[in-house]
Amino acid sequence: MNEKIGKELTTKWLAWEIHFYPQTDSTNVRAKALGENGVHGTLIVAGSQTAGRGRRGRSWESPEEKNIYMSIYLKPEIEVAKAPMLTILMAYSVAKALRNTFGIDAQIKWPNDLVLNKKKICGILTEMSIKQNAIEYVVIGTGINVGNKEFPEELKKSATSLFLESGRLFPRAKIIAEIMNVFEEEYERFCKEEDLGWIQDAYNQMLVNCRRDIVVLDANGEYSAKALGINEKGELQIEKEDGTKDVVFAGEVSVRGIYGYV
Ligand code: BTN
Repeated sequence: MNEKIGKELTTKWLAWEIHFYPQTDSTNVRAKALGENGVHGTLIVAGSQTAGRGRRGRSWESPEEKNIYMSIYLKPEIEVAKAPMLTILMAYSVAKALRNTFGIDAQIKWPNDLVLNKKKICGILTEMSIKQNAIEYVVIGTGINVGNKEFPEELKKSATSLFLESGRLFPRAKIIAEIMNVFEEEYERFCKEEDLGWIQDAYNQMLVNCRRDIVVLDANGEYSAKALGINEKGELQIEKEDGTKDVVFAGEVSVRGIYGYV
């Protein structure tokens, strides 16, 4: 796997160190185990996970079905408050890589999912270690349903795979490498600009809920609103039912469509 990924890489530093596990507990856990002395840009990939982690303490189904389970380890010199933008940047990079290289029309469900035909094909879990109010390291974990032939009953309505939607088995190594190639470029620009203004328009064009009614779930409960797209900080701009405008922050809320997942 390492060689196959390496052959397709055009990066200057990202994924120059790759750790591949045929099976492991969770690539995020492996990346965090690198601790403070890990190499910036290390990529961890697994064939399957026995303890795949999702957002909000959920688990992530990780069977050995030719899917992608990967995490990158980064040491960004940015403020802690800007770290959630990295999730937005990864979702954007995955969508861009799938579109440009394979013609897959994936859309983004803010902040950390990708959908195809209204069902989830990708989830992103960003975790970080903070020391003395500064970022020690960030781990961005990405799971992509590439080869699943079926899903457990409870996920069938909301999850799908590239194989189920297209009948094709896409090469994982090439997908991973393309995501690394795109992400490195976007990440370098992000580190210079420290916001997401330059991707805002392209991101919003791929945003599945843009200009549509959504339900926002936050710590105080849920309310209906219309999604207006992200701003330059990666926050979701919304219009509430009373016409007032507001923004919601990644990490604090969950968003869904009025009829279900999208
Ligand atoms: C979510 O949608 O809840 C986020 C899912 C993130 C899953 C990926 S798979 C690779 C990495 N390792 C994990 O344990 N989780 C992430």
